Amino acid sequence: YRLEACQAPVAIDGASANAMVYRDLGAPLDGRFVAPVLRAEPGPGQRIRLEFTNGLPADPALNLLGHERHPTNVHVHGLHVSPGADAMTGLPADDVHLRIEGGGQGLTYDYDLAMQRPGSIALYHPHLHGSVAEQMWNGLVGAIDVSDGEITALDPYPATLLVLKDVTVSNGAPAPYTMLSEYMRGREGNVVTVNGQVNPYLAVTAGEVRRLRILNVSNARFYRLSLQGHPFHVVGADGGLLDRPTAARSELLMAPGERVDLLVPFGTADKGDYKLLALPYARHGNMASAQVTLLTVRIASRTRAAQALPAAVAPGTTRLSDDPALARPRFALSMGQGRGYINGITFEQLADGSIRSCEHHSMVGDDEIWEVVNESGMDHPWHQHVNDAQVLSISGGDASIARYAALYTSAPAWKDTIIIPKWGSATFRMPIRDHGGMTMFHCHILEHEDIGMMGMWHLM
Ligand code: C2O
Ligand code: CU
Ligand code: CU
Repeated sequence: YRLEACQAPVAIDGASANAMVYRDLGAPLDGRFVAPVLRAEPGPGQRIRLEFTNGLPADPALNLLGHERHPTNVHVHGLHVSPGADAMTGLPADDVHLRIEGGGQGLTYDYDLAMQRPGSIALYHPHLHGSVAEQMWNGLVGAIDVSDGEITALDPYPATLLVLKDVTVSNGAPAPYTMLSEYMRGREGNVVTVNGQVNPYLAVTAGEVRRLRILNVSNARFYRLSLQGHPFHVVGADGGLLDRPTAARSELLMAPGERVDLLVPFGTADKGDYKLLALPYARHGNMASAQVTLLTVRIASRTRAAQALPAAVAPGTTRLSDDPALARPRFALSMGQGRGYINGITFEQLADGSIRSCEHHSMVGDDEIWEVVNESGMDHPWHQHVNDAQVLSISGGDASIARYAALYTSAPAWKDTIIIPKWGSATFRMPIRDHGGMTMFHCHILEHEDIGMMGMWHLM
């Protein structure tokens, strides 16, 4: 892939906005508010080569946090590649965030997919501390679709990738950040786009089982997905496929950075429209978001023979269990004075260039059980790089969180992003099998990452 980050006019909800977008240098600008999808096969010998150019302006403009707006880099969220290949680390401690300057500087990334689980869904976005939220809000985020490889159980089902991203446009551009409170709260837009469009139609045929692979690439918005009560089954999560479809469910919560793979059976007698909704949810205090229609599923009148769900999806995928003998590091998340903290320390670059942050060391070869405690009145989507985990427990939160917890504590789901409910906690077990180097963990409300809710992780 040849990809450039640039400023370009895109259409958002019928209006033109000057956004920051990734464009495929091999194709003309298409004016859509969605990045090219990178597609890849998992397995030995499979790689993604990404020739990246930063075509943003080469100016010293600063954002509200005092960080430069236009240097950037690329992080592959959910790809099981080494910290060095992710090119944020493997560098001296005072340079953990590689900078690619605007005005045409470039870098070629080369990701080895030998150890990637089939059917995982990843994303790519900037990761330069202090400007991540702003660049992503402006449009720099895209999907990486890792195919199922030799898993054929899902082949018969027509699949649709849905990229969910909200934004507010004002004065012909994504609205700038103007207050520190936007960083504390996390920014939500007044329109929600799905693959760059507002409430698009999705045509399905009565009788089919439609596969929906959904990414939440929003800065801070949670989606409590519902198809107006129509049942669906979960077959995959962030890092790969489940052993088999879950029992039918009618809603599912998704935080920023999370991905799900669903099968939705439409009966031969189903007709009309179903709206894919984000139901009200209070991620912060008691203030529930308003309901939003994400897209409209339109069932074509012609029918096909009814498709059945597969009995198995990725049958070798099993659950990990708790083990009191394993190391149990604990991370406490808190907020205050305009900053985010992990174990009381806010991530910051000091005047001499060195980094101060919460730090954790792990030995490659070990399993660890991490406990993350939320000492604030706001949900935080915890995200760790490189290694996936299986959730052992989630406590706190409302009935939507209870349903979320029931799913991820029973299915063999591989997760890199996990909701830690307000005043609640979660534990998850992580096998650390390969890939040494230095990387990070942080809250995936990107504004919180930028104000310091991030720590450094040394894989030894
Ligand atoms: Cu999607 Cu460290 O991030
Ligand atoms: Cu990541
Ligand atoms: Cu957070």
